[in-house]
Amino acid sequence: MKEQLEKIREEALKQIEASDALDKLNEIRIAYLGKKGELTSVLKSMKDVAPEERPRVGQMVNEVRELLETRLDEMKGKLAKRAREEQMKREVIDVTLPAKKSNVGHSHPNTIALKEVERIFVGMGYEVVEGPEVEYDEYNFERLNIPKNHPARDEQDTFYINDNILLRSQTSPVQVRTMEKGKLPVRMISPGRVFRSDEVDATHSPSFHQIEGLVVDKNITFADLKGTLAEFARQLFGPETKVKFRPHHFPFTEPSAEVDVSCFKCGGTGCRFCKGSGWIEILGCGMVHPHVLEMCGIDPEEYTGFAFGVGLERIALLKYEIDDMRLLYENDIRFLKQF
Ligand code: DAH
Repeated sequence: MKEQLEKIREEALKQIEASDALDKLNEIRIAYLGKKGELTSVLKSMKDVAPEERPRVGQMVNEVRELLETRLDEMKGKLAKRAREEQMKREVIDVTLPAKKSNVGHSHPNTIALKEVERIFVGMGYEVVEGPEVEYDEYNFERLNIPKNHPARDEQDTFYINDNILLRSQTSPVQVRTMEKGKLPVRMISPGRVFRSDEVDATHSPSFHQIEGLVVDKNITFADLKGTLAEFARQLFGPETKVKFRPHHFPFTEPSAEVDVSCFKCGGTGCRFCKGSGWIEILGCGMVHPHVLEMCGIDPEEYTGFAFGVGLERIALLKYEIDDMRLLYENDIRFLKQF
């Protein structure tokens, strides 16, 4: 029995020493210490040992078991450490490699131009309000003095959700929404996206942006409109800028005008930029039509107002001298970074 135990011990220790993987080590543990392991079967044959020998043999079996357990644990620690070291070697990071450049975005020319316009009007005491892009026909047309068969609907053809709901073709419906709230006086601008069923080219897009302006108060005159827009033009294009009001027609203002600014490139003498005229058109405006005031619940005998509408893309194209509107929608970072 003693010899058999010694043999088991020697053989097991040799195998443990020679093992080079954790799963092999586990197999050795099962082969010797498992339920059907060699050492376990020695214990089972204790009944064949003479009673006076049993304590000694029992003690020997325990000593061998403890020794094997200790060695197995030691080896397990060694193998695990080695595996970890190899992994560290494999996954080494070269900190001297150049870092990947992180790509920071850039404000869109529309955004820069809008911030500038907002800064100017907020500076004059205006509030910035928003309106829905999906709008009722009633707000986009009807209550702006553009009834069903009005020819002005032709050039503002848009996308219809159904007979009464459409994608707004202008920001002017926000005028109606603001006035019908009944909080007077009004001094607001409203920037936002508008839609028209236009083909894409260098100056057109089915979706673009406008900034609406509206002032309603007692004793507002055309002089207020002129002064305000002249100040706006000077702040936007430089203090030397002159403005020219040309009579025009919009259904929701009376009288109406289009505003030109003196060309900030040539100062008004005429160049390629202003097509030789010395002037550049920038917006439409007028005194709010009394009928529009009435349709929005405001007494035109007591209150008057002026309104204007600016194309945001137009401002951005002019200010940054971009000659094709399509560039504004491609979002090529190489283009955007120039502004
Ligand atoms: N909504 C007009 C358009 O899209 C622009 C406009 C003109 C707005 C005159 C106004 C205005 O508020 O008074 O053509």
